[in-house]
Amino acid sequence: MKYLVTGGAGFIGGNFVHYMVKTYPEDQFVVLDLLTYAGNLETLRPVEDSPNYRFVKGDIADREFVMQLCKEERFDVIVNFAAETHVDRCILNPGLFVRTNVMGTQVLLDAAKEYQARYHQVSTDEVYGDLPLDRPDLYFTEETPLHTSSPYSASKAGADLLVQAYHRTFGLPVTISRCSNNYGPYQFPEKLIPLMISRAAAGERLPVYGKGENVRDWLHVLDHCRAIDLIIRKGTPGEIYNVGGHNERTNLQVVKTILEALDKPEALIQYVADRPGHDRRYAIDPKKIERELGWKPLYTFESGIEETIRWYLDNEDWWKRILNGEYQSYFESMYGERLKTGETQKA
Ligand code: NAD
Ligand code: DAU
Repeated sequence: MKYLVTGGAGFIGGNFVHYMVKTYPEDQFVVLDLLTYAGNLETLRPVEDSPNYRFVKGDIADREFVMQLCKEERFDVIVNFAAETHVDRCILNPGLFVRTNVMGTQVLLDAAKEYQARYHQVSTDEVYGDLPLDRPDLYFTEETPLHTSSPYSASKAGADLLVQAYHRTFGLPVTISRCSNNYGPYQFPEKLIPLMISRAAAGERLPVYGKGENVRDWLHVLDHCRAIDLIIRKGTPGEIYNVGGHNERTNLQVVKTILEALDKPEALIQYVADRPGHDRRYAIDPKKIERELGWKPLYTFESGIEETIRWYLDNEDWWKRILNGEYQSYFESMYGERLKTGETQKA
């Protein structure tokens, strides 16, 4: 099998590539990534020398380039992780989110259709909107109507609708996974958990939006990667699968867990202005993927957060080079000219 993994230099895509390259040495994995601020080739270092991995720099929304790549490579599977993903950034620049997340997805769908690839879309629970804080009995199922709050979630929902439309209209073999909040190694330190670990480690203030009462349903990234692998291999074309592990925590609980693990005082918490349109609670009902594909998470939040905090403490170089901006010049010094659009790392 030959896979195109878009967005593979990001957090979840990078973890997926590590997992797949090792688990399936007989398969080929080509990563396509634009290396935006969120893409980091250092994340792909663990697989850099693997014979079944290759990196290509490029834009999923560049139709001519994507079509040419897919024509030459004839992928069996396209897995789309590439996206603009940070909600705070979509408030500043919604258009970029529509371009990458909606138009980029459409280009990939056309390429899958033209060159007969199986297509998997990595989506999010945010497409369902949010749940009230005082109704712990409510969960998102695959039948929950789309009801988005932010330009980010609206762009992801738009992409999901296109994916379903390509299945219905053209018979394209597609699947969609909608996952809750991920955490784990290699997450860009703008997202809650790595941001709080890096700031707490440095003794800096921890900005908690509003009262810190919003609830997220945390899933370790490797449990998500295993779910995507299962869906691609065993899922039914045309189907959507929710992925989550029943690990709901308020933001304040998460922040206090990190402070306690690092032996830092709660006085570091600083309550700041709330995020506009801030979703209150996400909670996934994962029964379908458990029942139909036999998926179960391996991590509890307690085991996963402990391991994750340890990883950030042991890999300070990785996130410190992001915070001081060095990670981007690292690309140049490591790969220089070879990273021009479309050229492969091992060319
Ligand atoms: P990320 O921001 O860490 O990585 C995104 C990657 O996409 C980066 O490597 C970036 O360079 C690349 N990219 C951006 N625009 C591109 C373009 N035009 N062409 C090619 N590459 C481009 O994101 P993540 O957290 O790893 O999320 C991956 C996917 O999973 C996204 O689709 C996101 O919506 C979804 N998701 C994320 C979470 C989460 O908690 N992080 C949860 C559920 C779903
Ligand atoms: O649910 C899946 C989604 O999870 C993904 O689709 C998104 O790509 C991903 O970014 C994530 O979205 P969130 O907005 O939930 O994640 P974020 O880490 O930005 O914030 C988590 C919660 O923490 C949210 O309620 C806002 C709050 N927060 C976040 C930051 C960055 C703070 O209180 N302070 C902060 O500094």
